[in-house]
Amino acid sequence: QDDQFKKVISHAKEYGYVFQSSEIYDGLSAVYDYAQNGVELKKNIRDYWWKAMVQMHDNIVGLDAAIFMHPTTWKASGHVDAFNDPLIDNKDSKKRYRADVLIEDYCAKIETKIEKEVNKAAKRFGEAFNKEEFLSTNGRVLGYQEKIDGILARMGKSLGEENLADVKALIEELEIACPLSGSRNWTDVKQFNLMFGTKLGASADSAMDLYLRPETAQGIFVNFLNVQKTGRMKIPFGIAQTGKAFRNEIVARQFIFRMREFEQMEMQFFVKPGTQKEWYEKWKETRLKWHLSLGMGEDNYRFHDHDKLAHYAEAAADIEFKFPFGFKELEGIHSRTDFDLSQHEKHSGKKLQYFDHEENKSYVPYVVETSIGLDRMFLAVFSNSLVEEELENNTTRTVLKLPAVLAPVKAAILPLVKKDGLPEVARKIVEDLKWDFNVTYDEKDAVGRRYRRQDANGTPFCITVDHDTLEDHMVTIRHRDTMEQNRVKIEDLRNIIKQEVDV
Ligand code: GAP
Repeated sequence: QDDQFKKVISHAKEYGYVFQSSEIYDGLSAVYDYAQNGVELKKNIRDYWWKAMVQMHDNIVGLDAAIFMHPTTWKASGHVDAFNDPLIDNKDSKKRYRADVLIEDYCAKIETKIEKEVNKAAKRFGEAFNKEEFLSTNGRVLGYQEKIDGILARMGKSLGEENLADVKALIEELEIACPLSGSRNWTDVKQFNLMFGTKLGASADSAMDLYLRPETAQGIFVNFLNVQKTGRMKIPFGIAQTGKAFRNEIVARQFIFRMREFEQMEMQFFVKPGTQKEWYEKWKETRLKWHLSLGMGEDNYRFHDHDKLAHYAEAAADIEFKFPFGFKELEGIHSRTDFDLSQHEKHSGKKLQYFDHEENKSYVPYVVETSIGLDRMFLAVFSNSLVEEELENNTTRTVLKLPAVLAPVKAAILPLVKKDGLPEVARKIVEDLKWDFNVTYDEKDAVGRRYRRQDANGTPFCITVDHDTLEDHMVTIRHRDTMEQNRVKIEDLRNIIKQEVDV
């Protein structure tokens, strides 16, 4: 698993998808830049989302609110008081951990231990081995299992102020059961606010303290009535937005999975109070369908319903994806009640109510939110697509099987040789197709090597111009995933590509 993840990271760099930010200065932790291919993949994911959410829904409109917002926004939203991570320091190693992530790590280690015991026993008993029976009778494994169950039960409680002492005791207990840090000398657990602060204004005394937004959602809430009125929107309706968000993550690791500067794609759906449950279920289903439409394998997704809720939520579920390091949150669907709008009413003194003509009364709508990290989606798509295939002639090929609709470059046009007028024909095809698709021209190296380069780059089609093309105006089109090749008319290329890459 670790190896596969390392391959993903190095492939992303080698093929111009993701670079570490400020690399020449040794990088900036948990901040990344998207390179020539990455920026295209990211844009295509964003467009795919936007099309599904805004273009395909009559009752959802878009918004692009500013990153800077009035500081009271974050007081009202609860982020100033409640957007905290519990931190714990190890006094010996002087290392700082996010307490919940540390507990997760302990659990993972214990699970690995159980797995090892199971594998050992399976080898020993061979055919006669029964995993269920082994798990239910082996004392040591049972002990570990109990430990995990106990932890999950305790983690179900929020890691809020009242439980911090409990969390510390839990970590001490875990370190004894399954040493991870190698030392038992912990500080108390402290809360740490994740928002980045900055200042607006030049002079030191009049400058205003601001935060970089930790979620895009609040830009939607404060614009709710403006959009509703000017767009003459009727409830139920939604407002969608994509944009940067910032969090001073403590444990920022796993590449672009947890970043300090990242992009969100969020949609707030405003509904009549009392109907939120129904809409929550509907959006869970709709969003899962969106994921499945990319064809990345049903088994790679699962729902995780939260017992532990964020400060604003009444119900919450994650769509988890099987990343190279296991199932992790990819998207959140939250039933946020009227919490945010009511809070903004209270703090701004402005009414944020909707007049329902059918009911003939005003109310503060309830909100169901869908929120997905664009970078995280990028990692899901990228890591899932990267495969190494054994070929019949005992060689392997590295291929990035990106869904064609998301691929940065849709087709590479390759003249078989760099002479005899073939480059001119190939360039003419590029000139023609580039109005509709991102295409590229490549004449360097033998054609087989060029195919491999495009496979690794994720390009769904290679189009080769050879000497026969000059006579019959046909080219060879090669499909990335099957490596099948067929001969088609130049004039049909546009439609053939379109069929695959259009949604
Ligand atoms: N408005 C609700 C909200 O922000 P969240 O669960 O904190 O909810 C939503 O974040 C999504 O944003 C997550 O499911 C994840 O995909 C993405 N996300 C959150 N923090 C992130 C980070 N540090 N780096 C990358 N993506 C992140």
